[in-house]
Amino acid sequence: MEQALELFESHRRPAEPELHRGYLDLLGAAKAGGNAAQRLMRSRAVPLIYQRFWRPVAGRLLMGLTGPGTEEEHRIALAMLAISPGDRVLDVACGPGNFSRDFALEAGTGLVVGVDSSETMLGVAVRDNPMGNLAYVRGDARNLPFRDGSFDAVCCFAALYLIEEPMLAVEEMARVLAPGGRLALMSSCNRGPVPTSMANSVVRGLSGVRVFGRDELVRALDGFEAVEQRISGLAQFVSARKAAE
Ligand SMILES: C[S@@+](CC[C@H](N)C(=O)[O-])C[C@H]1O[C@@H](n2cnc3c(N)ncnc32)[C@H](O)[C@@H]1O
Repeated sequence: MEQALELFESHRRPAEPELHRGYLDLLGAAKAGGNAAQRLMRSRAVPLIYQRFWRPVAGRLLMGLTGPGTEEEHRIALAMLAISPGDRVLDVACGPGNFSRDFALEAGTGLVVGVDSSETMLGVAVRDNPMGNLAYVRGDARNLPFRDGSFDAVCCFAALYLIEEPMLAVEEMARVLAPGGRLALMSSCNRGPVPTSMANSVVRGLSGVRVFGRDELVRALDGFEAVEQRISGLAQFVSARKAAE
């Protein structure tokens, strides 16, 4: 956590960091969004069953029967992020640390920071996925506490579709990424004939989950290099590299 605090903007660094739960809490009583899906992520029950049951089932529903399973998704994330020993990696909306743990294994002497807004998710992360080079922070993806260019790789899987104003989160990820750094996103993707606005009025209205238009995330990465999109069922993986200065 000391190393993670060094990456904070000076005015965001707490004078006396409160770490007794095993993560640094920057939100206190505040909540980062209140739609139905986010409330589930803050519940007691879902984080407990998330890694083993919820995530594999949700992933399968999103990616279809022939799409990548959980293990393959982890391989995809690692391939897109190309983490080397010593790298600093940010896992945005890390949930119970299910991907952060893999990143920490790859980063070796480096540092991984997992940020999430849910206390219960982070409680499980601290319990189930602790690593010496992995720090957890409770914060809002739309307002990251880190200095510009702090990380060599930034990942955000299965979360942009839950976040109100997801493009603010994308801007923040771009900001904290170092020149030449790698970005990996996985989110929803509209397929078929129904216009995205109509899909959202039903899906988002009922669940809070946003359906992204096919090119929406790619377009948001204007200025990035090597932007690649892979679509699988109703999901998309997008990888990109921040232009070197
Ligand atoms: C479905 S989980 C994804 C966990 C993990 N990244 C994965 O791929 O399995 C989505 C996470 O996003 C978090 N989240 C939602 N809105 C957020 C926000 N504004 N800032 C930070 N985390 C947020 C939720 O608390 C939840 O843990």
